[in-house]
Amino acid sequence: MPTYRAPRGTRDLLPAERPTWARLEALARDLAARYGYREITTPLFELADVFERGIGEVTDVVQKELFRLAPRTEESERWALRPEPTAGIMRAYVQHGMQTWPQPVKLTQTGPMFRYDRPQAGRYRQFVQFDVEAVGDAGPAIDAEIIELGFRFYREAGLDGVEVLLNSIGDGACRPSFIAALTDYYRGHVDVLPPLERERLDRNVLRLPDSKDPAMTALNAAAPRITEYLCDACAAHLAGVRAHLDALGVVYRLEPSLVRGLDYYTRTAFEFYKTGREGQQQALGGGGRYDGLIELLGGRPTPGIGFGIGLDRLVLALAETGGASDAEPAPVAVVVGADPDDTVGRLRVATDLRGAGIAARAELGRRKLGKQMEAAVRDGAHFAVILGDELADGNVTLRDLRAATQELVPVGELADTILRAGESQPHG
Ligand code: HAM
Repeated sequence: MPTYRAPRGTRDLLPAERPTWARLEALARDLAARYGYREITTPLFELADVFERGIGEVTDVVQKELFRLAPRTEESERWALRPEPTAGIMRAYVQHGMQTWPQPVKLTQTGPMFRYDRPQAGRYRQFVQFDVEAVGDAGPAIDAEIIELGFRFYREAGLDGVEVLLNSIGDGACRPSFIAALTDYYRGHVDVLPPLERERLDRNVLRLPDSKDPAMTALNAAAPRITEYLCDACAAHLAGVRAHLDALGVVYRLEPSLVRGLDYYTRTAFEFYKTGREGQQQALGGGGRYDGLIELLGGRPTPGIGFGIGLDRLVLALAETGGASDAEPAPVAVVVGADPDDTVGRLRVATDLRGAGIAARAELGRRKLGKQMEAAVRDGAHFAVILGDELADGNVTLRDLRAATQELVPVGELADTILRAGESQPHG
């Protein structure tokens, strides 16, 4: 057993795993840019207040899962690692006066988040989210645009069978009467509520209809539904989102029990699930509208909507569907030599190739040429550059390991020859 291991709930992503991650991170960046989102990077930690006010003090994320940083004695501030990026991005929106920029301000960020959760598959203490936020547009068209963007992300990532669950959770005008009706309903059945749900009844009754506890199934089926309580403005907003999704051909399922775990949401709420897995499995991603959040953080009232897509869960889902993981890039050329001791010559040639933009490995061991060649083949290199007696005349042997051909090339023309051959023989 090693003395030290990665902290519980965290993982090392080893070189063989990184290419899939790199592809998804690049796709997130490309796709967000295609939809007009600009990159922002906010700190990994903020004043705990930003999360407590933004996400809500009585949410699990803040009450149970916030990674609080022990303050140093001379500092009175309370800091916490970010459990999600939205609150921090809205803090930045207010701080940098983005309300004076052309609206909507469309921002994206992909990076690590931290939640002191009970670790299990798909639930980590450090995980990565692809996040987009559109601030300053009250919708409903942009709601549909964002949902379609998230849906497309899964498709282009190679994951089929993703389902969109959609709901409206109302706003300040209509949610109170729904909460009152819900509270009345569950109070009437308090004797049969499991302990956790009984506790939630007073803290955050909206979570009850979404409970995964089998003891709640029958009770929840008969519970009041938010859709019966929406005010005219919220109902019209939901109808608008649906009309735009329909026009885009995005298939979604209305799910009246969908509430989301963060307090800042108003109206549109949505989640992405692997089809048939909702209920048992955690969401692949989720988001919604947060029209009151910026005001909570000290800004002018400004509407906003966004989503967070968990890349860890996406990678797991891709692995489950049997998608081969992405290959690590192989060197284009490996420089080998007949004289095992001429490490200087091999390193010099490889350095020149790297300077010309070619991925090259020099054989720096002092083994026989045959062994060096075997290693070059094992590497999956396209070319072996062989330094031999011809070097006296300024030439090297360039062997195309794929075509099994070779030619003598002047050292000065080596890089160009490799680059030209690379163009005429594209390889993946
Ligand atoms: P969230 O639903 O809390 O929303 O998280 C979004 C996604 O992050 C989840 O659907 C899941 O894929 C991933 N995730 C959350 N917790 C974990 C964990 N412990 N381990 C692995 N993956 C996890 C938000 O965070 C909102 N900020 C989304 C949003 C953006 N709403 C508006 N704008």
